[in-house]
Amino acid sequence: MHDLQSRVAALRADFPLLDSQDIVYLDNSATSQRPTQVLEAEKRFYEEKNANPFRGVYELSEACTEAYEAARTAVADFIHAKQSEEIIFTRNATESLNLVAYSYGLNFLKPGDEIVVSVMEHHSNFLPWRYVAERTGAILVKLEPTPQGAITDEILDSVLNERTRLVALTQMSNVLGQVYDLKHIAERVHAVGAVLVADGAQSVPHLPVDVQALDVDFLAFSGHKMLAPTGIGVLYGKLSLLKKMPPFLQGGEMIEIVHWDRVKYAQPPHKFEAGTVNTGGAVALHAAIDYIRSVGFDTIMAQEEHLTRLAMEGMRDIPGVHIMGSPEPQDHQGIVTFTIDGVHPHDVASIFDAEHICVRAGHHCAQPLMDFLGVFSTTRASFSFYNTEEDVARFLACLGKIRRQMGYGE
Ligand code: ALA
Repeated sequence: MHDLQSRVAALRADFPLLDSQDIVYLDNSATSQRPTQVLEAEKRFYEEKNANPFRGVYELSEACTEAYEAARTAVADFIHAKQSEEIIFTRNATESLNLVAYSYGLNFLKPGDEIVVSVMEHHSNFLPWRYVAERTGAILVKLEPTPQGAITDEILDSVLNERTRLVALTQMSNVLGQVYDLKHIAERVHAVGAVLVADGAQSVPHLPVDVQALDVDFLAFSGHKMLAPTGIGVLYGKLSLLKKMPPFLQGGEMIEIVHWDRVKYAQPPHKFEAGTVNTGGAVALHAAIDYIRSVGFDTIMAQEEHLTRLAMEGMRDIPGVHIMGSPEPQDHQGIVTFTIDGVHPHDVASIFDAEHICVRAGHHCAQPLMDFLGVFSTTRASFSFYNTEEDVARFLACLGKIRRQMGYGE
């Protein structure tokens, strides 16, 4: 454990914001911090290779295209896609999920079809499906977990049937930190002839993901939660599905031929990347993937599990604090969401802020889950591999004072 902490201390120096300010950053599920290697890679790209990709026949444009396509290959390798054509660059996970909803949902679902959506979904994997249901006449079916946030076979049996055409599920809840067994769930979903749309925004940065082993049909994630800049995201889709889906956005560089009276669209992924793409963002995402690989998921997961355990064990001794979801640290992949009796989460977050501790308060864009949990809002601490034991100690020390500070006896 000592070795792990020395490694983390060394890695932390790569993060300029953390290195230069007295900040305990525990809002990693909202967005991660960026290491110098990623910031430098993006800067170098603009200094050395910036042009409009795909359009120029000159060398600089070709170098730009090459850097952009190398990023696509790196993403495909990272999540073990069969081929890079299955990787579409988007703005973020939200846009990726909307792409599937607009292009697949609106075109392939019909009245009476069932769309199963879990109550754990971030609004970005709920609202698009609600909209598709309204527009197509499909029926939205609610998947509720056990009180502790698990999905059992009995629960799957109760929502899947021959009318199910699509299941929208997060791989890891942004509130509970619970990771779902997508491989098993995909088998069940495919057995009734439906497709599985997985939200990987929280999982892809924190654990190894293999889309072929999981056999998910679509997987969406964002660069900004995995050390890359905002504005770059990914949609993975099985090529057979992408081929039959119409484009989501229309515009430049997504066609093979356009005449006044006829259009032939490009093949995936370009069919789904209309307009000038985010080359700098893709290059930076490539650098982020290289950085994550150099740290290694062994280190990432070991540190996040260690910090989660320390935090949850410490929280158990603080009166009036209630952790959402499972009481077991191993069921919380780096995310601990809680309430404090009698104290509003916004007051909790403000008290933390006064001690330079960043946590998120509110409904975490998961209001149906708040309803299920019977709370209006909560406070969330979310860890990354660059957080330290001292971060957890400062978090616990502050948490321990909050009720007293708000005028309660303990
Ligand atoms: N989806 C992000 C979160 O959970 C913003 O905070």
